[in-house]
Amino acid sequence: MTRFDGHVALVTGGASGIGAAIGSRLRGEGAHVVLADIDADGLARAAAADPDVATVACDVTDSAAVEAAVAETVRRFGRIDSAFAVAGAARFGTITDIAEDDWTFTVDLVLRGTFLTVRHAARAMRAAGHGGAVVIVSSLNAHVPLYGGSSYAAAKAASENFAKSAALELAPHGIRVNAVLPGLVATPLTAPLLGVESVNADYLARIPARRAADPSEIAGPCLYLASDDASYVNGTSLVVDGGWEITNYPDLAPLLEG
Ligand SMILES: NC(=O)c1ccc[n+]([C@@H]2O[C@H](COP(=O)([O-])OP(=O)(O)OC[C@H]3O[C@@H](n4cnc5c(N)ncnc54)[C@H](O)[C@@H]3O)[C@@H](O)[C@H]2O)c1
Repeated sequence: MTRFDGHVALVTGGASGIGAAIGSRLRGEGAHVVLADIDADGLARAAAADPDVATVACDVTDSAAVEAAVAETVRRFGRIDSAFAVAGAARFGTITDIAEDDWTFTVDLVLRGTFLTVRHAARAMRAAGHGGAVVIVSSLNAHVPLYGGSSYAAAKAASENFAKSAALELAPHGIRVNAVLPGLVATPLTAPLLGVESVNADYLARIPARRAADPSEIAGPCLYLASDDASYVNGTSLVVDGGWEITNYPDLAPLLEG
């Protein structure tokens, strides 16, 4: 027996990075997994690598699509025990210069996408009456500002706080909701930023671990929060950052603007 034998999980953003690592670790521990993502090619690669993993094309900002992804999870595997709200991306720009549509894009994806994932997963769990667990992947930027990334940092702070309201509302239904706040993780999302040598060097100088996390090092804490080991953990946040929060986030302005 492994921790997640018979467990059914839905992972948004499951085609890449942290979401893919969560899916793969869940599969390794016996779970049935549905990966939901907007990236059809990425989903096809995941399905080719593991024929037992189910995939569903889904834009998490589209309520009907998220509802359909949850329905597909239940149709395919008979239930839904956990949902991991991981899908995310950002369009950057300073507050004075960013296109307003870009600012809205990020807030919509990070915050509304999380709301819709929790809403539809929790509705299915509540209807089935067996409880469940939801893990929201927020960010260390929920606690520290990000020059040129105000929409991302603000929306991540909101998603962390949202987890607490969700925990409050869903506890009577046996559904736990927690947030994970990763620091720097080596994924396609961070590759462009880490390609700027000065940013990379300054980040690493501040991270006591002196390296970025592998996505599997974020997946592990996410799985813990969805597991029975965390049966009394609810409405809280787990910072997984190699100690970065201790040393403060750099002001990127002089690094990016010379
Ligand atoms: N990489 C980091 O350093 C880091 C740090 C803190 C938080 N995070 C958060 O972790 C989560 C995963 O990021 P990652 O680093 O694995 O990035 P990633 O780019 O590797 O993966 C993100 C996935 O989300 C999917 N996605 C984007 N928009 C979507 C949408 N509208 N609907 C459905 N899927 C969508 C992408 O297609 C991609 O597969 C994000 O929420 C990100 O903000 C990442």
